[in-house]
Parts: sequence; structure tokens; C-alpha cells
Amino acid sequence: PGLSVEVLAEVDSTNTRLLERARQGDATPCLLVAERQNAGRGRQGRPWQSAPGASLTFSLGLPMAPQRWGGLSLAVGVALAEALHPQLRIKWPNDLWTVDAHGAPAGKLGGILIETQGHAGPSRHVVVGVGLNIEAPPALPDPRNPVAWLRQLDDAATAPATLTLAATALVGALKLFELRGFAAFARRFEARDLLRNRAVVTTRPDLPEARAQGVDEDGALLLRDSRGQHRLDSGEVSVRPC
Ligand code: BTN
Repeated sequence: PGLSVEVLAEVDSTNTRLLERARQGDATPCLLVAERQNAGRGRQGRPWQSAPGASLTFSLGLPMAPQRWGGLSLAVGVALAEALHPQLRIKWPNDLWTVDAHGAPAGKLGGILIETQGHAGPSRHVVVGVGLNIEAPPALPDPRNPVAWLRQLDDAATAPATLTLAATALVGALKLFELRGFAAFARRFEARDLLRNRAVVTTRPDLPEARAQGVDEDGALLLRDSRGQHRLDSGEVSVRPC
């Protein structure tokens, strides 16, 4: 089946729109691009604000039936990072960050929000939402949440060219994920893992500080502290400031 592509001047949220359509029975694979979102959503219920013109916001919705779902957000991150720039890394579970010349985290370039519609069964309607900074956002920099944009890495980066690269990579990655799961992405993720071997702070009260040691075959983050190894399958971590 083909993919319909739709560009809207303004929506509440491209994810919300595609989830709503799926709920009403429209499961046509669709790439929905918005020039402006007035109720963009980030992970963990946070709002997602992006500057119109300086960023790219789109969602890809399609039915999927992989054998296992674990690691889907990492697979999406790998596909986008590989398609867009060698200096992009994935910050578990699904942020795109840039690194400086020494490989140190520089700033967040984009975010991924994956949502599904349908019962917990083998097949669900998946909506992969992506927000990417192309140019410098107008907001004042916040040292606790450093921001990055693609034009810093690539003088020639534009939103339309980035959309073509990102969407093509995403469609291919979702097909591969359906056939082979996270196994097809694990090595590629390792090469782009922002947190690997870094000291991180987690949101889990029993695990305030630990060292990141990659992910398991389901994409869960592996952490080590003085008490041993731990597995984090959801939540939030931040790189500990040195
Ligand atoms: C995050 O970093 O918290 C994830 C941000 C995801 C933002 C994108 S923009 C397109 C799509 N529509 C939304 O409302 N959110 C996602």
C-alpha cells in the first residue's frame, strides 16, 4: 500500500491527528507534516514547542505487527541519526543529540514520540512523531537543557531536504523492524549511543546515579552502580554534569 503525504499549515498535534484518525477506523499509512502545532506534545505529558520555520514537525502513522515491540524508539532514532548526520547520537530512550568534536554531548536536536492506537495485540496502529530543530530556535538558551540544530552541523540543511531524508529512512526502518525487530538495529545503536559509559542520573529513587552500559535485546537501558547491574525499561535519565 502507498503512503499518503499531507502538509497542513496548522494543527493541534500531528500525533493527535493521526491517532484520532486511527480511532475512527482510518488506518491508511500517512505522513502528516505541520508547519505549526498549537498543542504539540512531548514525552511524559510535556508540551512540545517548536518555532515555525526553524523546525520540522511530522508524524508517520501506519499499522505494524512486529513479533516484539521492544527497542522500536531506538530503531527510529538510529534511522534518523544515520540519515541526517554523522555527529548525531541517540540519547536513550528517544532523543537526538549532537556531540562536539570530542564526542561530548552538545545539545538536543530533536525528539521522538511514539504512540499506538488499538488493543494490545500483535497488530497496532503506530504513530511515530518527530520534531527536529533545523535552525536556531528563538528562545533564550537554558544551560540545563542545551539545544542544538542541524544547520550547526550542515550549512546546507533545509527543512524540505531533511524531511525527505528522515521520512524515507523512517519508512525503511519500520519495515525492517517489523521483519527483524531490534536485532537489526542493535549494533547500529551501539555506534550512536550517547550515554554509553557515561555517568547518568535517573528518575528512579533507588537508582539515583549509575553508569550507562548499553541496552539489552529489548532496548532497555543497562546501568551499573556499586550494587551491581540494573535494567531500566522506561523513564528518564540525564547525563551527569562533570
Ligand atoms: C520529546 O522529546 O519529548 C518528544 C517530542 C516529539 C515532538 C513531535 S513534533 C511532531 C509530533 N507531534 C507532536 O505533538 N509531538 C511529536
